[in-house]
Amino acid sequence: MFSLKGKTALITGAAQGIGKTSAEKLAELGAQVAIADLNVEKAAATAEEICRNGGKAIAVAMNVGDNDSIEAAVKQVAETFGGIDIVVNSAGILGTSSIEEMQRNGEWNRVLDIDLSGTFFVCQKVLPYLKKSSAGRIINISSLSGRNGGFEGSMAYVAAKGGVVAITRGMARHLAPYKITVNAVCPGTTETEILKGYTPERIENQVKNILLGRLGKPEEIAGAVCYLASDEAAFVTGLMLDINGGGYFG
Ligand SMILES: NC(=O)c1ccc[n+]([C@@H]2O[C@H](COP(=O)([O-])OP(=O)(O)OC[C@H]3O[C@@H](n4cnc5c(N)ncnc54)[C@H](O)[C@@H]3O)[C@@H](O)[C@H]2O)c1
Repeated sequence: MFSLKGKTALITGAAQGIGKTSAEKLAELGAQVAIADLNVEKAAATAEEICRNGGKAIAVAMNVGDNDSIEAAVKQVAETFGGIDIVVNSAGILGTSSIEEMQRNGEWNRVLDIDLSGTFFVCQKVLPYLKKSSAGRIINISSLSGRNGGFEGSMAYVAAKGGVVAITRGMARHLAPYKITVNAVCPGTTETEILKGYTPERIENQVKNILLGRLGKPEEIAGAVCYLASDEAAFVTGLMLDINGGGYFG
């Protein structure tokens, strides 16, 4: 089993879902974790739960759509824990519009801003701390949609998640001289609250496209996050780790 003792991880969107489970698993491996989320109350509850289970966690308010908010939260985490070694970008939103309905100043800009620009600017603001770490790690949560164009999803989401794939590869190249690894995990449909926006028919259709015949579980994504955060993954960078039950071969 990997050890993350002595490491600090900042996880965005960690109040619930994949971010929360990743934070819990990183804490179980010994990392001190910062639960960064727009939903401050839920983030605090997640941090308390991790502390009750013997981990070390704090909650920080962060809106990944606002650079001042990102900067303030990153500073708070670095001051509290004495640095940042690992960043996991899990904050994200879905879109619902069809190609015909898509509004530029509505869903298009909103989803791109949170899912793509949010991921990039969190990386930018954490970078000075990662450069000081002996094993800096960036782990971006992209999506199967960013790999295969999605099944029925919004093109804003597809573009944002495809963009995350591209910036993950680009940053892997640029940050390699600092020994910072940059990877993405690309989940297929995974059982979290984000699926509240899906109709039962849409979920049924997606399961039909999954070789293993079921949805993913947040623990199955968090396991990949833990591996990529570990010292054992020091030689892995620019990787898109597809975890989707055989929904796509790339
Ligand atoms: N669940 C899936 O099927 C699935 C599949 C592929 C990829 N993903 C990706 O995984 C990531 C996590 O998804 P999830 O299923 O856990 O979703 P979720 O809705 O359960 O959790 C998302 C979290 O992000 C937070 N958030 C939203 N906007 C934010 C903002 N502006 N600033 C800070 N925090 C914000 C929310 O408050 C929430 O806590 C997302 O990037 C999503 O696109 C999910």
